[in-house]
Amino acid sequence: MKIDIISCQPGLIDGFFSQSIVKNAIQSNLVEIKTHDLRPFGNGNYRQIDDYQYGGGAGMVLMIEPLAKLIRQLQEKTTYDQVIYLTPDGKTLNQKSVNKLSLSKNLLMICGHYKGIDERVRELFVTQEISIGDYVLSGGEIAAAVLTDAIVRLIPGVINDETSALTDSFQDDLLAPPVYTRPADFEGAKVPEILMSGNEKLINDWRLEKSIERTTQRRPDLLPK
Ligand code: ADE
Repeated sequence: MKIDIISCQPGLIDGFFSQSIVKNAIQSNLVEIKTHDLRPFGNGNYRQIDDYQYGGGAGMVLMIEPLAKLIRQLQEKTTYDQVIYLTPDGKTLNQKSVNKLSLSKNLLMICGHYKGIDERVRELFVTQEISIGDYVLSGGEIAAAVLTDAIVRLIPGVINDETSALTDSFQDDLLAPPVYTRPADFEGAKVPEILMSGNEKLINDWRLEKSIERTTQRRPDLLPK
């Protein structure tokens, strides 16, 4: 899989990818991630990439020409499954959409800044608009990093234990059950006996029960109606 990311602060994203689980995936050639600085595509000697909005109002807007130039240059080399714009007014990200995106061959992500991007970029180039939650970040970079991390960890081979990603919270519309490791007894706080029974069927039943219990208590909206 290849992920191209357009940003006017690529250092923010590169820093994240040089540390995380994504770094291992890149080093193992399971994914190729490239950030593309918008600035060199800016207009004029000052490489202008943003301007005041028509109609007045606070905040700068990323201009269409630099974005169009860079997007077109990337599209000449690569056919993208999706051109994603990270924005708080996009569709809220969930595990189902991450699963779907993880099957893509090539993705292009666009990070907004300031007041956002010229609406015509969205109309002409963007195929999917994604929000990572109902709050506003100062730019799309952190959102792109979140989305990339969520996608990359699903690529086979990225997580050592392949089944691990399948038992994550949300994969079956249930939150994950509690997990424990040694010691079996910490100052009287004990690990449930059943997990040490060695009986796989009983353990699976217990985990499912706890998942349902936890989902009912914390996220009843996830349960089937
Ligand atoms: N850019 C700013 N806020 C965002 C959010 N919540 N999700 C995605 N992109 C954003």
